Amino acid sequence: MKKKLKKKIRFLIILLLLLFLLFLIFLYLFIIRKPKVIFTDNLTAEINSDVKISDYIKEIKNGKLITKNNKIDTSSLGKKNIIVEIESKNKITKYELNINIVDTTKPVIEGREKLTTKVGEEINLLENTKVNDNSKEQLQLEVKGDYDIYKAGNYNLKYYAKDSSNNETSKSFTLIVEENPNLKIIKTSKGYNLFIKDGIATVNGIVIANKSYGLPENYGNGLTSEFLENFNKMKADAKKEGINISIISGFRTYNYQKNLYNKYVNQDGKALADTYSARPGHSEHQTGLAADINSLQQSFEFTKEGAWLNNNSYKYGFILRYPKGKEDITGYMFEPWHFRYVGDIAKDIYNNGSWITLEEYFGIDSKYQ
Ligand code: DAL
Ligand code: ZN
Repeated sequence: MKKKLKKKIRFLIILLLLLFLLFLIFLYLFIIRKPKVIFTDNLTAEINSDVKISDYIKEIKNGKLITKNNKIDTSSLGKKNIIVEIESKNKITKYELNINIVDTTKPVIEGREKLTTKVGEEINLLENTKVNDNSKEQLQLEVKGDYDIYKAGNYNLKYYAKDSSNNETSKSFTLIVEENPNLKIIKTSKGYNLFIKDGIATVNGIVIANKSYGLPENYGNGLTSEFLENFNKMKADAKKEGINISIISGFRTYNYQKNLYNKYVNQDGKALADTYSARPGHSEHQTGLAADINSLQQSFEFTKEGAWLNNNSYKYGFILRYPKGKEDITGYMFEPWHFRYVGDIAKDIYNNGSWITLEEYFGIDSKYQ
């Protein structure tokens, strides 16, 4: 009996040992021998950068990386799942590698450090500039800082750009605004800048010809295309309403005006002539933007053509240049026939039928020096 028990125990021990051996074999084959990959700590990649799978592998145990030279697609931001294949004993094991594609690189601005212009001469600050970004986005370059193109000085400004990952960059440059001997700038009483460039006065691009501001002798060469285009439109629309309008005096050269004015001076004397005829160089007719229409009679005001022009010309960009009751401001008597093309501001000058003058609108004088 005792012998039998001993035998049984020995058998159990051998069995346990065998089982333990089997366990060790299993451990070796399936756990210790299994390939193991250790990835690097930093699992990010810059957008559009050249990276490959092997860049993210610190160590491989019991195997060989098959996808070693496989490039990672970094063309878009965000998480990317990559399959890493490891070969061991002719068996391929797949692992997942999670790479986060990020953009931490600032855009790069190219541009000059100094730009030079003259007072009143606008300059395109973005000319010859470039902004490049690793994201391959089309970035908008901005200019930051203030400058006054009408005031000589050195202005410290910045180019600035930001990509969609909020990486921002800026680059300083200096805008040098030099004095401009050909340009005189006068602040009008309404706060506009009146420019006198090469002897021609303009406010907001509108040429001024009145008693204060004259034109050079050689200025003008006919009615401008702007005038003609808008006048013809007005004429055609008027015709549809049975109103016939036509120009009786359009463009006048300096010399033509000189003869005309002298004729009136001889006829009526200088003081009176100055109330209805401009001295040479001071006539709006020389701008190519004004014309006398239909009649030179004061009674034109009361004709259907005169009334139509008075009420509709502003829609085409024209103004009644010398309104009634504004003689002291324009320097001329009422001329119901003289219309001047000014464009969009005509609506404001029409003033719902109670015309103001170009002088009042811009805050300028009309007086001979
Ligand atoms: N009749 C206007 C004022 C001129 O002579 O231009
Ligand atoms: Zn006229």
